[in-house]
Amino acid sequence: MGDDLLAQIRLGGAVPRHVAIIMDGNGRWALDRHLPRPLGHRAGMNAVREVVEGAIEAGVEVLTLFAFSEENWQRPPTEISALMDLLEEYIAREVDELREQGVRVHVLGDRTRLVPGARAAVERVEHDTRDGTRLSLNLCISYSSRAEIARAARLLAEQVLAGATKLEDIDEAAVQEQLYTAPWRDPDLLIRTSGEQRLSNFLLWQLAYTELLITPVLWPDFSRRQLFEAILDYQRRERRFGKVTA
Ligand code: IPE
Ligand code: IPE
Ligand code: MG
Repeated sequence: MGDDLLAQIRLGGAVPRHVAIIMDGNGRWALDRHLPRPLGHRAGMNAVREVVEGAIEAGVEVLTLFAFSEENWQRPPTEISALMDLLEEYIAREVDELREQGVRVHVLGDRTRLVPGARAAVERVEHDTRDGTRLSLNLCISYSSRAEIARAARLLAEQVLAGATKLEDIDEAAVQEQLYTAPWRDPDLLIRTSGEQRLSNFLLWQLAYTELLITPVLWPDFSRRQLFEAILDYQRRERRFGKVTA
């Protein structure tokens, strides 16, 4: 499925090496079908599988998915517990296949807030996929970008107080090194589903020069075809980074 688009991507030039996605619209997908919201989240889980496979096929190296924000802790407890259960279920169901596909999973965010079962599942998937080299899959869970930046500031301040870092050595690279995303280049392409035109506290530092693509498709309906179309759209763009074209 989507082989025609994959062939176009091969001819289209550079593939975005790092794709980030705000997976939004599960609740509206359920509402449209008169289903409870957790069933929308369950349907969204299948879209994650699609996109992981599509990313590997297209040659994307890093896929960073926004699954649950720090602000999402303010949702009703029943929805939160359904999401935590789904996280555990997703990991239990997918961990072997992820490992076989060469995917390495990292979970970014404040994992101390996760329920013990979800936290154990997160640690298990990171451990069991640690040898993967084909795709880095970053799951942002209990993540907020401002909290991440404040944490980086705190870590740098600690280093200065301990005498390990000099004040004048704190530059952009030093900040970047303290972010959860330190091991990876900045996203080349950000996709947000469900049509909302905002970042919702996602990767505010890292998205400085990222290409943005907002699609009206609700996350559970997002398939590898849509990922491939987004990549083709990206390939038609000119990235200037503030410079002029030669
Ligand atoms: C995205 O879907 C998943 C999470 C934020 C956990 P939503 O649950 O936000 O779905 P909508 O935006 O209400 O449709
Ligand atoms: C952003 O979606 C967070 C995730 C997709 C995990 P939200 O649904 O929480 O964002 P807002 O509230 O519409 O900005
Ligand atoms: Mg939403």
